[in-house]
Amino acid sequence: MSYTIKSFDEYQQAYQESIQNPEGFWANIAEQFTWQQKWDKVLDWNFEEPNVKWFINGKLNITENCLDRHLKTRGNKLALIWEPNDPKERYVRYTYRELHEKVCMIANVLRNNGVKKGDRVCIYMPMIPELAFSVLACARIGAVHSVIFAGFSATSMADRINDAQATVVLTSDGLNRGTKQIPVKRVVDEAIATCPSVQKVIVVERTGWAVNMEEGRDVWLHEELQKVDKDCTAEIMDAEDPLFILYTSGSTGKPKGVVHTCGGYMVYSDYTFRNVFQYQESDVYWCTADIGWITGHTYLLYGPLLTGATTLMFEGIPTFPDAGRFWQVVDKHGVNIFYTAPTAIRSLMAAGLDHVLSYSLDSLKVLGSVGEPINEEAWHWYHIHVGKERCPVVDTWWQTETGGIMISALAHVSPLKPSHAGYPLPGIQPILVDQSGEEIKENEVEGYLCMKFPWPGMIRTTYGDHERCRLSYFAAYKGLYFTGDGAKRDKNGMYRIIGRVDDVINVSGHRFGTAEIENAINQNKHVVESAVVGYPHEIKGQGIYAFVICNHDDPGNEQYLRDEIIESVVAEIGKIAKPDKIQIVNGLPKTRSGKIMRRILRKVAEGETSNLGDTSTLLDPNVVDEIIAGAL
Ligand code: PRX
Repeated sequence: MSYTIKSFDEYQQAYQESIQNPEGFWANIAEQFTWQQKWDKVLDWNFEEPNVKWFINGKLNITENCLDRHLKTRGNKLALIWEPNDPKERYVRYTYRELHEKVCMIANVLRNNGVKKGDRVCIYMPMIPELAFSVLACARIGAVHSVIFAGFSATSMADRINDAQATVVLTSDGLNRGTKQIPVKRVVDEAIATCPSVQKVIVVERTGWAVNMEEGRDVWLHEELQKVDKDCTAEIMDAEDPLFILYTSGSTGKPKGVVHTCGGYMVYSDYTFRNVFQYQESDVYWCTADIGWITGHTYLLYGPLLTGATTLMFEGIPTFPDAGRFWQVVDKHGVNIFYTAPTAIRSLMAAGLDHVLSYSLDSLKVLGSVGEPINEEAWHWYHIHVGKERCPVVDTWWQTETGGIMISALAHVSPLKPSHAGYPLPGIQPILVDQSGEEIKENEVEGYLCMKFPWPGMIRTTYGDHERCRLSYFAAYKGLYFTGDGAKRDKNGMYRIIGRVDDVINVSGHRFGTAEIENAINQNKHVVESAVVGYPHEIKGQGIYAFVICNHDDPGNEQYLRDEIIESVVAEIGKIAKPDKIQIVNGLPKTRSGKIMRRILRKVAEGETSNLGDTSTLLDPNVVDEIIAGAL
């Protein structure tokens, strides 16, 4: 069996082997890496507790595999290209040797500031090179990184820091995104006012804005770097030691900290990267995701660096200075493989073809999509106008919890079908089940998407609360990992992901729980109760529709109330969770037992009120008429 699959026949062979002998299959792949000590046993698992362990007693450091391992053969190869927000600012490029040095130095800064193996370090930073260095620096010394997307509010950050009991925060003075300027350090200051675990804040100078530096707590990275060596011995980690925590939303309560471990995640991110994108040694690869999300972790940083690729990191947004920016960057750096989200494609599609046609895009070989279902129109536009019909579009389905891509075409290897993720990767055993949890074996069916066998990159636990992990993913269907997604399987066995079947809304590829947004809305003093649902949105995939009951003694100015509600959501979660529509209502459709019938609200939000189904269990059916009359 070869490590990189080159034809569909080889894919089928690898798939068969991975099912018949999973341990042998993954051991063979794991052999390709540098281990300080080999594993005793490949896999131990049960999905009841759950307990999943890969490469038991294996010892390694993932950064030795991302960096040191390449120095002999790829020391002078470009590892990271950084493209700034403003195209007038000069880009920066780092070879593997330079990246190694940067990572080692920041790792030493962390050690000097008291960080030890196992400590949690929060990283809240814009898309600047120091973000990449910092993530790897944590991994170098065995600290568990928890990257928080720099668009989250101070309250969200504080919740995450407190949950992980992080002792150090790495951040920057400010950030520029498009024409917006965000005082990042000020947000951090506000957050850690309620985070007693934080002892040190290390600040990168990016914008030069004046910031508050608290004596004894805050230090400048550039000053700390003066004090350290260029070498840093990598901490030896157990394969099952945590590598990072990444918070993601579920259908209940606050976001949970998904925990990934060193060995399995390494093997899985490398294997999926090289096979899905079919990376060739001289390719320039660009994933547009922010490192604050799982896509940025696995396919901007770890996967490409493990493979020895040249990976591009972009600080800006697709529409600044204009909607041709992505394509300008592709031409400028000769990007061969381009990986983005359907939301970005749809917004660029709406901006008009001229922006694409002004660029050659000759370097492109492979296009990827991730984060949400890609509608056929967007798929074709991407394929025809960006890929000029010569680049396959790999529609990659996966989740924060899966660590890496699960269902996808392999570029230039697998058959493509628009809006279909396609076949599972080797090692992945998806099944569809019906409501009672029975497996649906036939093709041309629809069901709940589950996994019946572990894979190395999968979630191990939710930080600090293992029971929550069990309840969220392993309790719905006995012996299965439940994804929360519904899917169809066509007559050839190709999968099409339909979307979430739980109370999770996917807005522009970002996950929010309806309960999470409702909690934020309910923080507002004018609000009595709220209910949030998703509805189809042309650009974002799904939009957020909030039905809100306000206090009667309020001034009655609806616009004022809406602004207030938005402010609460921005303060509690961040701008990315702003409701698109807010309908002020007098009541919510509740059953006699007090449960909100969301099905009805979803129909109203979708504008499909002709057939609301059975409403006989409603306490007060008049509420529905009123909601329909006021629908936005
Ligand atoms: O509903 C699926 C959707 O995004 C969810 C996972 O979100 P998150 O953990 O934030 O990770 C996003 C990036 C991996 C899934 O449960 N999703 C992700 N990729 C696709 C998708 N839906 C359809 N097609 C995809 N390619």
